[in-house]
Amino acid sequence: MAVSTAKKQNGKPDTKHNIEAMREAFYERISEYDMAPLWKVMKNVVTKEPVTQCIPALWRFADAKALVLESGPLITAEEAERRVLILENPAMRGQSKITNSLFAGIQMILPGEVAPAHQHVSSAIRFVLDGEGAYTAVEGEKSIMYPGDFVITSNWAPHDHGNDSKEPMMWLDVLDFPMVNFFETSFAQQFAEKTQPTGRGDGDSLAFYGSGVLPDSVPDRRGASPIINYTYKRTRPIIERMKKAGDIDKRHGARVRYVNPVTGGPVLPTMGANLALLPAGFKGEPYRSTDGTVFVCVEGKGSTKVGDKTLEWGPNDVFVVPPWQRYAHAAATEAVLFSISDKPAQEALGIWREGH
Ligand SMILES: [Fe+2]
Repeated sequence: MAVSTAKKQNGKPDTKHNIEAMREAFYERISEYDMAPLWKVMKNVVTKEPVTQCIPALWRFADAKALVLESGPLITAEEAERRVLILENPAMRGQSKITNSLFAGIQMILPGEVAPAHQHVSSAIRFVLDGEGAYTAVEGEKSIMYPGDFVITSNWAPHDHGNDSKEPMMWLDVLDFPMVNFFETSFAQQFAEKTQPTGRGDGDSLAFYGSGVLPDSVPDRRGASPIINYTYKRTRPIIERMKKAGDIDKRHGARVRYVNPVTGGPVLPTMGANLALLPAGFKGEPYRSTDGTVFVCVEGKGSTKVGDKTLEWGPNDVFVVPPWQRYAHAAATEAVLFSISDKPAQEALGIWREGH
């Protein structure tokens, strides 16, 4: 027994070793009942500040494009279901994650290919990088995609992709499935038909819901925006106007967030997106927030200092800033940054914070 084995020094009981031995014996006993002492792990489970495995990282588009093109002859979009190369956070390899809560990947569709219709609980944000003229069909609308367009497929929305153009088409996919899988709430299914019937015109949802008016009936998308494609053509001139008006945030530049026009809230309950213009020579003030963020450089060149690491970016490069790490953007030329994070999910749970 622990008590009887306690050491004695100078004839007195060694109470320190005695109590430690008693504790260890107790932990062993309660372990048999699938119990453990919180006081031994308290500092690890209730940390003073956010702790993340995620590290800052950047993927050059030149590399990503060459590699995703190489995958073309290896597997068809149909065979793969989705031909996507995952951008894995270097500190979280094998987990299919860019941050702890988000998946990111580069998807390619070759001319004439179809990525067959399916639906799933995970929502997706697609940001078009290269090529033009491929489509995403969502709930009856076939939306033709151009670089800089931001397309959403929300929870359980049937969607398929196809490429009727003559060039390969690539986009960044960001999905919330690490979050969905954390809650163990994933469902998914394929459709018998490769493509869904499309009775709506290209741009219908943007015209109906994104023009300062709303039709009498708006589809129920479980809190997600009814707009399928927030086109770059519409959004880019707005940040240009903000720049001219001097509406430039010292940390984020001239920035807009994409909104659900029905609620004024984020485009999806789990993920939100922004588009920011950084004027040439912009030196952003440091900022941090609890939402790890995926950025895409849309135009221009610059760098982002994250902690003591500097990420140099150019067009279509993708980079990630981990949660609660201080970062500051600098623009060598006028630049446009698109960004995605899980801020809406954190806000809904009341746990989002920002600082400097
Ligand atoms: Fe999908």
